[in-house]
Amino acid sequence: MSRVAYVNGRYVPHRSARVHVEDRGYQFADGIYEVVAVRHGHLVDEIPHLDRLDRSLGEMRLAAPMGRAPLRHAMREVIRRNRVADGIVYLQVSRGVAPRGHAFPKGIAPSVVITAKRLAPNYAQMEKGIAIITLPDIRWKRRDIKTVNLTANVLAKQQALDAGAYDAWLVDEDGMISEGTASNAWIVTKGRELITHTPDYRILNGITRVAVRGMAEKEGYTFVERPFSKAEALSAAEAFITGTTSWVTPVIAIDGKPVGDGKAGPLTRALQRLYAAHADAP
Ligand code: PDD
Repeated sequence: MSRVAYVNGRYVPHRSARVHVEDRGYQFADGIYEVVAVRHGHLVDEIPHLDRLDRSLGEMRLAAPMGRAPLRHAMREVIRRNRVADGIVYLQVSRGVAPRGHAFPKGIAPSVVITAKRLAPNYAQMEKGIAIITLPDIRWKRRDIKTVNLTANVLAKQQALDAGAYDAWLVDEDGMISEGTASNAWIVTKGRELITHTPDYRILNGITRVAVRGMAEKEGYTFVERPFSKAEALSAAEAFITGTTSWVTPVIAIDGKPVGDGKAGPLTRALQRLYAAHADAP
């Protein structure tokens, strides 16, 4: 079966889906994106993702390329045409195509691309957990906007893989963990306090993060939103990441040292189960 992509109002074969060489997303990273999970054919947390898309558009002073109803229709159509039951939808909006120049060009339409692919949840990894290393966070100071400029994330991810880990947790100038390269970072202290970074300009406010926060609150877990240091992470009882593609995945080693007893902890497991049920629900 051949894949299909949506490009500026048309459904085209994925292998020949193209944007112009002077697309500003390509030349300036002047664009934003969303990744939404597809589970049993439905979109997980679709509305929060679209709300965040609107927020990113606003912060970038990008015009909405189309109304929400046609956008939701196009996403469903891409899922349907690609026969995705479990997987992801990728949606990108750039400022559009114009002769290269830093200033916003006048009178151009934004470029919109939607793709979908099959991707089964990584149950083995969720069961076993991952090792991460810490690296300096060299990104800009608007990480709350989901822009397609992922240069620092790409470099950190590869450095982590080269070091034999799965991912990196990024450490800011103040010695605080901001987030992973494509996920949010959480710890559980020895006093059973659940901590994740404040949703401000220093992190992307993950949709999975918000869903898990709601579950933690509902369960009555002691939960604090604040930056936590690398030292706190290294002495945590439990650690995990949240993200559209990782759900809730335990972190079992940081910089080569085991977290707790080196296995997924009970609070992590409980939240993992709750999130899996949430993703499964239509
Ligand atoms: N990334 N932080 C960063 C830097 C991210 O890129 C992501 C998601 C998250 C988690 O956000 P959410 O729960 O909404 O997926 C946090 C996507 C999956 C990606 O770039 O592929």
